[in-house]
Amino acid sequence: MTVHIGAQPGDIAETVLMPGDPLRAKWAAERFLDDPVCVNEVRGMLGFTGTWKGNRVTIHGSGMGMPSLSIYANELIKDYGAKTLIRIGSCGAMQANVKLRDVILATTSSTLSTPSSGFFRELNFAPSADFGLLHKAFHVAEAREMPVHVGGIYSSDVFYDERPDLNEQMQRHGVLAVEMEAAELYTLAARYGCRALAVLTVSDHLLTEEALPSEDRQSSFSDMVEIALEAAFA
Ligand code: HPA
Repeated sequence: MTVHIGAQPGDIAETVLMPGDPLRAKWAAERFLDDPVCVNEVRGMLGFTGTWKGNRVTIHGSGMGMPSLSIYANELIKDYGAKTLIRIGSCGAMQANVKLRDVILATTSSTLSTPSSGFFRELNFAPSADFGLLHKAFHVAEAREMPVHVGGIYSSDVFYDERPDLNEQMQRHGVLAVEMEAAELYTLAARYGCRALAVLTVSDHLLTEEALPSEDRQSSFSDMVEIALEAAFA
């Protein structure tokens, strides 16, 4: 047990899928895994371990924002031996050619800060995805004819953003979308020699102000789980 995860040693698989929402973790575990067992429910954060095509997998919520993800990813890596961590989540598109429901595979993520900024001091560390995972995820998405974009995203600390000027600069520099967790996941993976990837679907659009209806969110979430599982094991 750790401060935030009630699992026993050995309860967590080396491969962990991390949706933001704990109830999505439960839904995905029940839908995709064989014999899922709940391994964490501390503070209402849920984690489940089961198997997918004979491979052990944990699906554990990250919560919203980098400080929350950082707590769970630190404990999953350092205390439970997680080696491959794949975020599955939603994002807001920032480019006109990126449409609602499109899949984004984040090569890197820009930030104003991450929970690691304090000790990096003057260094602007460039967090990056694991290329092997990214490569496989790209081929899975393409084979399924899902519209997929590969490139940089923005991990923001705020959902209710008061800096439209920053968004403009990021749009100008080709940033595909905004979310709130990937940069810290990539940074922790780099620090501890793990593999990480963020597989995102576009749930809303900053330029057109469109948003995905909730039924479509469920089906895009399913697509992301499948991409993540295939990328991890195929
Ligand atoms: N901002 C930040 N995070 C998000 C957004 C957004 O517009 N959409 C989905 N996750």
